[in-house]
Amino acid sequence: MEFTGISGNFSHASAEALAVVVFDGENAGSGSLAELDKLTGGGISAVFKSEDFKGEKGQTALLRFSPSGKVKARAIMLLGAGKRANYRVSDVSAASGAATRYLRTRSFKSFAFMPRCEGNAIAIAQAAAQGAVTSQFELDKYKTKDKKNKSVNKVIVCIDGAKPADLKNGLSRGQIIGDSMNFTRDLANEPPNVLTPTEMANRAQRMAKEVGLKYEVLDESKMTKMGMGSLLSVSKGSEQPAKLIVLRYTPAKNTGKKGDLLALVGKGITFDTGGISLKPGEGMDAMKYDMSGGATVIGTMRAIAMLKPTIPVLGVVAAVENMPDGKASRPSDVVTAMNGKTIEILNTDAEGRLILADAVAYAEKQGANRIVDMATLTGAVIIALGDQNTGIMGNDDELVKEIISLGKENGEGFWELPLGEGYSKQIKSDIADIKNIGPRGKAGTIMGAVFIQEFVDKAKWAHLDIAGTAWCDTVKPHQAKGPTGVAIRTLVSLVEKSQ
Ligand code: BES
Ligand code: MN
Ligand code: ZN
Repeated sequence: MEFTGISGNFSHASAEALAVVVFDGENAGSGSLAELDKLTGGGISAVFKSEDFKGEKGQTALLRFSPSGKVKARAIMLLGAGKRANYRVSDVSAASGAATRYLRTRSFKSFAFMPRCEGNAIAIAQAAAQGAVTSQFELDKYKTKDKKNKSVNKVIVCIDGAKPADLKNGLSRGQIIGDSMNFTRDLANEPPNVLTPTEMANRAQRMAKEVGLKYEVLDESKMTKMGMGSLLSVSKGSEQPAKLIVLRYTPAKNTGKKGDLLALVGKGITFDTGGISLKPGEGMDAMKYDMSGGATVIGTMRAIAMLKPTIPVLGVVAAVENMPDGKASRPSDVVTAMNGKTIEILNTDAEGRLILADAVAYAEKQGANRIVDMATLTGAVIIALGDQNTGIMGNDDELVKEIISLGKENGEGFWELPLGEGYSKQIKSDIADIKNIGPRGKAGTIMGAVFIQEFVDKAKWAHLDIAGTAWCDTVKPHQAKGPTGVAIRTLVSLVEKSQ
């Protein structure tokens, strides 16, 4: 997609359609709407009068007209955005995405977009571009016919009075972040026979080469030498060898505090059958997206490499397949993790925490003093929060609060659940240091988090349970159903805020 920015003359923009945000209760008599009303010979007033369109959030209307004079567009799209007072930069990406999807299905290849948002022009332009890019992602990669081929390939973003340099910067940032989200979504959507741990490592490597990240992969023999008995207990049951994917971003000039290192750690279970604690067959297909946390790390590292913040970032992905087999772990097996702790495996379906235990300990051993891990870890978080909020837990209040607040800025919901001694006690094992599950039906999401916490030593740490938010079962005006690329925008902000 190609993006350009303009800071005035919206109606003369060189595009097939003009898409403009309209607020609840507005009339066609004021400002930019009045100009468009004139252009369409009172068309906008007529739409308002018809009462089909009131500017309510999600409402849309399309007016077609014959272009004349300096006007090149042949249609105006009105995008309802609800009450003006509630309209934020974070709403711009959904508005731009909704316009893109609406117009492309009606065969428009280009449009000019006026978000009408107050605030930082860079952030607004970024949200507009990101929303347009992510809106065009589709699940049809493996279809040989009936593909959704129609696409918008040019968007002109109009922000009144914005500096050209800010527009350009914001649009390029938005494109990078949007493309990185789509990169993650493509990985999450890949079938598990294609995206094995080895293939996940190969894709990460190819990306790393393209954007200039340092890349390393630890194979099973290396992991054995490092004592990663917890992670390796999960891959034992699979024909596919586990891979620990390590991506390193080093800034040209480090403006952070000396010795600081932020690590992003992801669960990359390329397919989760549950292992010997086998999952029921119905719905098991969904478990191809159990590598979404890992895919999020890879996509975020891609964005970081291209945006070039001035602090170093480490990305660690544990890529493993969880299968039942003669060699698979049994419930009641005891294994030893890299940090020396012994684990009684009571349920082989609680495998995400087993691989994250070693991945998180590895990140800290590499020097990380701040760690954010992300994982489709528990079904319980879906019951608690649905698809609206990612569950967040951690050992550092400041880090957790910062992620929640940056999430709000980016239109991504995070909701904190508590940790504490009382919960940690519930994973004490009778025969080993800890066990990998807590009491049945009790605080399942927290049990996952307190388990991972056992493998964090001194680092500040936050855990994101994205099981409910990494995949969306319904199509939205601005987004196809399927993988969402959740948390990437917020994590990019976290990195940039730490510069
Ligand atoms: N990958 C699943 C969690 C999951 C479930 C993600 C549904 C998305 C949708 C995870 O490995 C798992 O199986 N968790 C178990 C833990 C239990 C055995 C303690 C769960 O949530 O049931
Ligand atoms: Mn599982
Ligand atoms: Zn899993």
